[in-house]
Amino acid sequence: MSLFRKKSLDVLMAQAANSEQGLKRTLGAGSLIALGIGAIIGAGLFVRTAAAAGQHAGPAVTLSFIIAAVGCAFAGLCYAEFASMIPIAGSAYTYAYATMGELIAWIIGWALILEYALGAATVSIAWSEFLNKLLELFNLGSIPYEWSHSPFEKALDAANVMHHGIMNIPALFILLLLSLLLIKGTQESAFVNAIIVFIKVAIVIVFIVVGWKFINPANHTPYLIPADAPPALKPDGTMYSYADTFRHGWGGVLTGAAIVFFAFIGFDAVSTAAQEAKNPKRDMPIGILGSLVICTILYILFSYVLTGVAPYSDFVKSGKDASVAYAIQTYMAGYGWLAKAVTIAILAGFSSVILVMLMGQSRVFYTMSTDGLLPKAFSDLHKKFRTPYKSNMILFVFVGAFAAFIPGSVAGDLTSIGTLFAFVLVCVGVIAMRRSDPDRVRPFRTPLVPLVPILGIIVCAAMIYSLDNTTLLTAFIWMLVGLVVYFGYSKAHSKLGNPSDILPKASDFE
Ligand code: ALA
Repeated sequence: MSLFRKKSLDVLMAQAANSEQGLKRTLGAGSLIALGIGAIIGAGLFVRTAAAAGQHAGPAVTLSFIIAAVGCAFAGLCYAEFASMIPIAGSAYTYAYATMGELIAWIIGWALILEYALGAATVSIAWSEFLNKLLELFNLGSIPYEWSHSPFEKALDAANVMHHGIMNIPALFILLLLSLLLIKGTQESAFVNAIIVFIKVAIVIVFIVVGWKFINPANHTPYLIPADAPPALKPDGTMYSYADTFRHGWGGVLTGAAIVFFAFIGFDAVSTAAQEAKNPKRDMPIGILGSLVICTILYILFSYVLTGVAPYSDFVKSGKDASVAYAIQTYMAGYGWLAKAVTIAILAGFSSVILVMLMGQSRVFYTMSTDGLLPKAFSDLHKKFRTPYKSNMILFVFVGAFAAFIPGSVAGDLTSIGTLFAFVLVCVGVIAMRRSDPDRVRPFRTPLVPLVPILGIIVCAAMIYSLDNTTLLTAFIWMLVGLVVYFGYSKAHSKLGNPSDILPKASDFE
């Protein structure tokens, strides 16, 4: 029974009221949308679009984006109900604690590590790729392959010499820099975030407008990859076959959706800022759904242009890294400046994604630690900077290990699974909460419950299913490790399990 003990909503609200003393409500709807876009547009768009097109969906990667967006919209509507109703940091973990009990909350919290911590690792790996590209563009040489890739990667260079990765140093560098910033308390202010968002969105729009003229209709025909598509050359010199069910046709589109789903991750990070929103009841739904809609439109147009400018099979080898700059340089004569501008904007944009992901993770850890489910170190604040510095340092070691030694594609797919899993449980949570607490005021109501949450569950589960078996197995093992930690440590240390530790008591608010 204690596995399903729930945190009372009244206690949660009271805790939020307490912590309000420390957090200022400064964010309006516009800033929340900007925060969402700041966290959303990153490696998913600039790196994984090409990966999904080249290996699975071809030009129909636009359809993959639509499928992923539909799944996110269903989940986003559910998030919006919770975020307007429980405007508290901790996001999906907190909602689950109130609706489905401690064990499920723990499971979500553990899955969120895949989303935020691994998400940060994935984007830092992409940052490393783009740093190399930038150095090349400005003729400043390049970081050796060995020191900018994981040991699981290898590639032939122009002279047909095989290189094996050892460790991704640039990825480690950016993570260290941003972790130090977080420790120092340098928060991404709404203003700085707005500037980065402006640059990112402007570059995406410029690429769409300029690239539109360079679309070669032959690249869009046929729109879905045919089963007998000729194999494409891979960086290691072997061939990539499209024969598998999930590498062509609709199977490929669905797998593509699971891959580009990564590009949408971050809209839920808006919900972690609930305690800093001026008018959460109205603005949280606007922030979550508004950033989702804007990004979806940009993504569809962007991927349409990218696969129109370059043939999808290019993205298996030559255009694999830094695909946008590759497409511009190879197929858009006279726009070398755009390749440089895109690369600089992408590097800046990735930094804000990493920062928000690391922040989101430390907030979820902070909340789990204050609930007793994680050791106190995760909520210890630095005396001077008032930031969870120990948590940031532990996170750097953990995230850094992934970024340095694991290929970006593996880390990226694991991130997607963790997030999709959290989305499924948030959808379940909306249905559960409507049953258990039907009369509570819901400033934003998910429409058509239970239909919308059920569709959210189905689409997100389908995307999980279409990811490759190794990723699924790794995620499964990760969740098992989580259960070992829960039963070995968290269950016994839970503050809900030790009523004398609960502060404040539920009865205080009756
Ligand atoms: N959505 C974020 C990105 O694509 C995580 O980088």
